[in-house]
Amino acid sequence: MRKIPIWIDTDTGVDDAVAILTAVKMEELEIVGVSAVAGNTSQENAFRNARDVLALAGRKDIRVYPGAEKPLLRTLEYAEHVHGRNGLGNAEIEHSDAPIEEKKAWDALYEKARELKGELVVCPVGPLTNIAIAIALHPDIVDYIKELNIMGGAADGGNVTPCAEFNIYADPHAAENVFKSGIPVNMFGLDVTMKAYLFDEDIAEISSYGNKASDLFRDSTGLVYRIRQQRKKQGLCEHDSCPIVYTAHPDWFEGHKCGIYVETQGKISTGKTVTDLWTDFKYEDRHCQVFLDLDQPRFAKLIKDAYKSYGEENN
Ligand code: RIB
Ligand code: CA
Repeated sequence: MRKIPIWIDTDTGVDDAVAILTAVKMEELEIVGVSAVAGNTSQENAFRNARDVLALAGRKDIRVYPGAEKPLLRTLEYAEHVHGRNGLGNAEIEHSDAPIEEKKAWDALYEKARELKGELVVCPVGPLTNIAIAIALHPDIVDYIKELNIMGGAADGGNVTPCAEFNIYADPHAAENVFKSGIPVNMFGLDVTMKAYLFDEDIAEISSYGNKASDLFRDSTGLVYRIRQQRKKQGLCEHDSCPIVYTAHPDWFEGHKCGIYVETQGKISTGKTVTDLWTDFKYEDRHCQVFLDLDQPRFAKLIKDAYKSYGEENN
């Protein structure tokens, strides 16, 4: 079976690390590149964390490229209360000794997309700044990216404001440019990612595996877990794993074609992904889908199996 080539663009926070460590173990996928973007944490932290997490996964061969240090226009507020000062929930892991890539994310992504002649699936799981810059600098990239499977937005609600989800809110101008680019976008917003649970028993099981990946999971998720407990929410939601798992298992997710527009001018609604999902599709077709549901048991099992397999390598 031919593997699906994917590129992960990440602000390498706690759930980003889960997505990367899961993707590495998915035999349907080939990670052909990773790029860092400022979001949860600084670009510098995101870049280092992505390198270190891939090294921990035994994949120092996967190249990580540096990207945008700030959004196109807005001022960024890091989510340290969730992802800690270092982006990994203040968990410390060994630093990678892989060669440091200097080529910028947007150039490396363009080159890889062209090399793969339209087969590349891009999974942005942070603010869309790098993707917007790539489109601006290399407009024909829209002909070479098969689809963007993004974690971001929400047809209903928000997490950083009542209207907006963090990744879109952080850089709404980039997001609007990406949604209107013509590249097909599959949006995994809070509508579905807030159902992408690892329940307490799943968390305990992963934390008990006793390998480096599961130890990072155990040591990095404390902050976010405590916040969810304070808000009387169950377990953890693995937001960033949704677009990754979808890429290999689209039948595990429920999506709806609709127009998606990003509010960039609103005083209280900036960063909202406005969709015509429930207003009989009045918007122009932007080749977008919004996802609303998933097969959570299969999703959780896939993540658990991925983490378990990090311990089996040494046997
Ligand atoms: O709103 C959730 C998103 O914001 C996730 O990508 C998380 O990593 C943070 O970047
Ligand atoms: Ca993220």
